[in-house]
Amino acid sequence: MTDSLTRSADSGIDVEVITIGTDAPGPTLADDLVAGFERTPKSLPPKYFYDEHGSALFDRICDTPEYYPTRTEDAVLHECAPEVLARHPAEHIIELGSGTSRKTRRLLDACERTGLAPRYWPLDVCPEVVREAGATLRSEYPWLGVTGLAGDYLGGLDTLPAPPGRRLYVFLGGTLGNFTADESVAFLADLARCMQPGDALLLGVDRVKDPQVLEAAYDDAAGVTAAFNLNLLNVLNRELGADFPLDAFRHRARYDREQQRIEMYLDAQRAFSVQVPALERSWEFAAGESILTEISRKFTPADIEEELSRAGLSLDTAFEPDNGYFSLLLARPAAGTRD
Ligand code: AVJ
Repeated sequence: MTDSLTRSADSGIDVEVITIGTDAPGPTLADDLVAGFERTPKSLPPKYFYDEHGSALFDRICDTPEYYPTRTEDAVLHECAPEVLARHPAEHIIELGSGTSRKTRRLLDACERTGLAPRYWPLDVCPEVVREAGATLRSEYPWLGVTGLAGDYLGGLDTLPAPPGRRLYVFLGGTLGNFTADESVAFLADLARCMQPGDALLLGVDRVKDPQVLEAAYDDAAGVTAAFNLNLLNVLNRELGADFPLDAFRHRARYDREQQRIEMYLDAQRAFSVQVPALERSWEFAAGESILTEISRKFTPADIEEELSRAGLSLDTAFEPDNGYFSLLLARPAAGTRD
């Protein structure tokens, strides 16, 4: 673990950022490309969407009229935050994939109203983002203690700090949907192993709904999601020196009713071969061939309960809007299942 104390340029507020989970580094982009392109269809993990440009595009997706999850979750969080904190008066809020900590303000506002002053532990891959988000929050909430965490939560939960006191783990945005059911259960079980009996998890998941609503959310009319998807090729070109022709690909989103998931693809419109100098390799693409770039699973209430319970967690309270578009779940370690 390496500690660094840095100063935010804007606010002049110091935020400590701890790097976690570097002992056993996971697969690199190059590893993931080689493994993903072995599959049929070729596929890539969605975590590589989020370079600086991709993160900015994701923020813009959240503002499109079609992409309901972010604003729905925010509205639910706004409404339920007081009850969440009444049920679970946290001394530590540990947020996985905190990003710019936009939605966290709902929880902090509720803390302020109830006189609760937890410490905030935002975890994100990008230390600069964590540092800036932490500094901004500290300037808005002067009572707030912040310890930033930089790392990949897919690789580093066992090195997550475990401060003494009642902890609330937070995993918002519906990001669990990016994992298959087995991966989700493994991830939640990992998280459950970090938790004490008195801790809780606040989890945001997207719900099964009208396929037209789902497909529109992942193919907005302004083309922001298409640009977000195509930007993945920019990342490969930049990071690996590859020569993916962006103009040869088209964005596609489809909802698979059986698997209850959105699938995002990049479809090659013509045949070509791509050189990847960093790997000293090339791949052939046929006209019409697709790269699966993201799955985003959608849940029924029963699915959620089942995955939580398989992971050793039990549902305390489910919060949702009247249209049932999104769920926020408060869950706790199930009694008697800890090793
Ligand atoms: C950030 C993973 C929750 O799956 O809805 C949005 C990512 N991809 N539009 C999602 C995403 C295309 C988003 N998550």
